[in-house]
Amino acid sequence: MSEKRSVQFSKPLVDHEEAQAAYDTVMSGWVTQGPRVADFEREFSAATGAAHACAVSNCTTALHLALRAAGVDEGDEVITVSYTFLATSNAIRYLGAWPVYVDIERGTRNMDPALVEAAITPRTKAILCVHQFGMPCDLAGILAVAGRHGLPVIEDAACAAGSEINIGSQWEPIGRPQGAAACFSFHPRKVLTAGDGGIITTNDAEFDAKVRRWRQHAMSVSDLARNNSSQVIIETFDEVGYNYRMTDIQAAVVRRQLVRLPGIVEARRAWARRYVEQLADIPGLEFPVEPEWARSNWQTYGVLLPPDIDRTAVMQSMQDDGIQTRRPTFCCHLEKAHSGRKLSFPLPVSEEVYNRNLGLPLFPQMSAEDQDFVVAALRRACGIAD
Ligand SMILES: Cc1ncc(COP(=O)(O)O)c(C=O)c1O
Repeated sequence: MSEKRSVQFSKPLVDHEEAQAAYDTVMSGWVTQGPRVADFEREFSAATGAAHACAVSNCTTALHLALRAAGVDEGDEVITVSYTFLATSNAIRYLGAWPVYVDIERGTRNMDPALVEAAITPRTKAILCVHQFGMPCDLAGILAVAGRHGLPVIEDAACAAGSEINIGSQWEPIGRPQGAAACFSFHPRKVLTAGDGGIITTNDAEFDAKVRRWRQHAMSVSDLARNNSSQVIIETFDEVGYNYRMTDIQAAVVRRQLVRLPGIVEARRAWARRYVEQLADIPGLEFPVEPEWARSNWQTYGVLLPPDIDRTAVMQSMQDDGIQTRRPTFCCHLEKAHSGRKLSFPLPVSEEVYNRNLGLPLFPQMSAEDQDFVVAALRRACGIAD
């Protein structure tokens, strides 16, 4: 191989405008949760069509607060998937509750709604579904089961800013909550970034009021309201809360990112389509399946390698060529942190997808030459001659 090139797995699309926004905020003298967080919340609500949006420090804390607001408590069970980042399970455990894992669908890599009903027990308090890698999960199917049993649905939308779902015969952005709430991440591997950050969208004013209070030590009044008041305010703390604040520096950056969202998603979709065109002839390779009711933002693009191919060897061979690949996510039940409790159900599809899925570089500003280089390296690693 003569060409020398290095291709990162992912790269946030940020430039001097985000840097300027951070600079202006630092110079404004108000750097923690304040006016820019409030502006960002209004803008994210408008972008998703959610009645309320509460910004927090990251998606893990968003999930923690949302599960608590949904009433999840010590000893309860929450139905979710194992094939997800550890944060999904960790947030359940923070409340002393237990994840009950159901298997995923092979094509979408998301919760199989047909398996949810059998997982419901008298201890089930909520369903925590995940829009994994930005692919919308089958919310219609999940909500139907939840509705029959009066269970709240929380969407782990960490990866799904800009994804869309056709539900109730119309296209909706992920984040217009179909259940109780949706939680997003602004980690740099996500579609929008603030360095770190998260937000909870909900249409329920009471739910929003709870998470809003808990993110700031359950203080009875926000710093911003206290600062803007001409009267002396005596704040109170009536319950145990957390410091899960987003800073105004993060908010300033992610506000600028939100303006870029349509362009970022359009570019990601174009690169995802091009991967399919370029890799379609590799025998045994399985692409993610986008149902006709879903439009992914392709936050992560993963292909299932042919079963007889050693994924680690492929990753090493591509790494040697200068290309970063990743195992796209994990199986929580196979990690020591969450392997202690007996599974309620076998998870053969989750385990197979976990073992075969290979995350390929994809970011808006990659070039066709970058992608061609990745494709050629993957073909070589799979033993396909050019
Ligand atoms: C599905 C999922 N849920 C939750 C999280 C946690 O997000 P954060 O890093 O913002 O806490 C992630 C992050 O990778 C994720 O992929």
